Amino acid sequence: MAQNGANVDVSNLVRVPASTIEFLEALNFDVYVLGPHGRLTLFCSQDHIPSPQEWSVLRQQAGRLYIKTGDRDRWRTQVAENLERLMEADAVPPLRQFELLQAVLDDSLRQTLTSADLTRTIQQSQQFGHHLVSVLTREVAVGDLFSILRHDFDTFSHVVNVSSYCVLLAVELGYSDAAELEQIVVGGLLHDIGKRYIPNRILAKAGPLTAAERDVICSHPRLGFVDLCNRKELNEGQLMMAYQHHERVDGGGYPVGVLGREMHPWARLCAVCDVFEAITGERPYRKPMTLPAALNLLSEQGGKHFDREMVQCWMSAVKRTHSTPVGVV
Ligand SMILES: [Fe+2]
Ligand SMILES: [Fe+2]
Repeated sequence: MAQNGANVDVSNLVRVPASTIEFLEALNFDVYVLGPHGRLTLFCSQDHIPSPQEWSVLRQQAGRLYIKTGDRDRWRTQVAENLERLMEADAVPPLRQFELLQAVLDDSLRQTLTSADLTRTIQQSQQFGHHLVSVLTREVAVGDLFSILRHDFDTFSHVVNVSSYCVLLAVELGYSDAAELEQIVVGGLLHDIGKRYIPNRILAKAGPLTAAERDVICSHPRLGFVDLCNRKELNEGQLMMAYQHHERVDGGGYPVGVLGREMHPWARLCAVCDVFEAITGERPYRKPMTLPAALNLLSEQGGKHFDREMVQCWMSAVKRTHSTPVGVV
């Protein structure tokens, strides 16, 4: 059972999603829980795997799990080694599988994108894209997904969220071929790949952008397209998700200003999910919009910024399925 962990320095801890720990059969590291009153205790370790009742109490109390920063590689390795098994396990509910996948994907993309290893990034996107489609086409609804996503300011969470929304919107629009959905999810994961050329001081700037800074940001679709266009493992739709996701159906977008009918359908789909994700997430320069406000904005922009039919499909999917937050993250 949990022990007093008062000697642990909180600043040396990294938060980890409960779903990355809950289904492991053994542990190579210690896991701490930060309780509702700020008290830190040891929750599990090599010597103690929590019982289902302890997990249940943790979830009821919305406890947050942490590992020591120095154990991050051990956590990463152990979760990666168990990923395939857990993605196939009937005992792991789809939303927990999604949380697990989200954590691993976020962590992996962070490593490969920051090391500028494009080949590895594409390979990982394809590997995880397969799992994402497999989970998201089972019993995951838009509203439930919205409740467990990380809505913070972070390019890595952004692309995981956008690609997941892209799958759900594609399914709502009638796409059903798993291979095609996997291509769409990979396109979603790669849509902002050009941002790796944009300095963080501009991406994360809290105040208004200068015209020159805006030009730099607006170059990311073109830079991403240039990066990806010679990759034989990607198709036209995926390239267009990177190149055209900031175009608007009324021709007022960038980098080219094409009209909606000239936009690839996957780029129109990505545009809806991209903006929805951006406005419902935390940004340095503004607070997240509430769900109703975000849906209103999309609705107002149907036929102008966005494909009207896609907006309507997205709105009905969100409204039909939005429910209360799920689980411990
Ligand atoms: Fe973008
Ligand atoms: Fe984006």
